[in-house]
Amino acid sequence: MLPPILQNLRIPVVGSPMFIVSGPELVIAQCKAGIVGSFPALNAREGEGEAPLLEAWLTRITEELDRHNQANPDQPAAPFAVNQIVHRSNARLQRDIEICHKHKVPIWITSLGARPEVNQAAHDCGGIALHDIINNKFARKAIEKGADGLIAVAAGAGGHAGPQSPFALVQEIRDWFDGPLLLSGSIATGRAVLAAQAMGADLAYIGSPFIATEEANADGSYKQMICDSGAMDIVTSSLFTGVSGNYLAPSIRNAGLDPENLDKADVSSMNFSSSSSKPKAWSQIFGAGQGIGAIRDVLPAAQLVDRLDREYHQARTTLLG
Ligand SMILES: Cc1cc2nc3c(=O)[nH]c(=O)nc-3n(C[C@H](O)[C@H](O)[C@H](O)COP(=O)(O)O)c2cc1C
Repeated sequence: MLPPILQNLRIPVVGSPMFIVSGPELVIAQCKAGIVGSFPALNAREGEGEAPLLEAWLTRITEELDRHNQANPDQPAAPFAVNQIVHRSNARLQRDIEICHKHKVPIWITSLGARPEVNQAAHDCGGIALHDIINNKFARKAIEKGADGLIAVAAGAGGHAGPQSPFALVQEIRDWFDGPLLLSGSIATGRAVLAAQAMGADLAYIGSPFIATEEANADGSYKQMICDSGAMDIVTSSLFTGVSGNYLAPSIRNAGLDPENLDKADVSSMNFSSSSSKPKAWSQIFGAGQGIGAIRDVLPAAQLVDRLDREYHQARTTLLG
């Protein structure tokens, strides 16, 4: 049984948080279109001495969604989520937790570390906590530490993907866990959303397809590269952040590197304290998952959700009658 906050979505989809790419415009568009929208708290970066931008973003998202709900009582917006990077190099974590608690963020997504106090803060303000994991061992640990649900990040996902097949990962987790389970990695069609549910997940967690939307905070060249590329263009490397992640090979070539021969980086080089988790020279190295073959045009996010919705219901009719 899903917690009430995750019931009544238009389709069982969460727009996943993406470093730099996800901001208030994308989140508001996703929520108004009927799916959960999310952003990493670290994307809201104010200048030295300025008021926390995270506060301004949360106020704007809450107010715009409230206005939408008053004007459209029959089609209320989906709830939004904020992602906390729970890594020791994230010096802002405590401050961001306090801001999210004050603004009563309804869904908290934690990555790169499971900490009871973050789950506690989510619960204290009436929210739920979903933790992303790449294997069954981390999944058990996350639930032991108080997460309400799991995001299984399988092979082929954008960002720091796991190495495991989604079939293996979901099957091992469903063996012992019957709470909310989201599946992440290469989901880019409504049919794939239904497939995630058939495997045992409750919801699909979709990132890369939303990079090629008008509301995404990404260069036009990045959006176009998503439209022009497919699974064969994705390479896995630890060079850019210290942890294995998936990237568009053409962007690596454009930066003067050979995607077939990239050095490995040490996990200790991972750092979320500066304005980017990648050195400046690599700011034009673009992350993406393997599912982008389904993305051909840059669209408003609402139109991408319309397509997912259409395909999802068509697939249900075809398979289930
Ligand atoms: C460019 C990019 C940046 C990402 N940044 C984050 C992040 O800051 N925090 C996080 O939890 N996940 C991050 N992810 C992972 C996504 O939330 C999600 O797991 C993934 O995009 C799903 O796979 P898909 O891209 O194939 O749909 C990122 C993914 C991409 C493509």
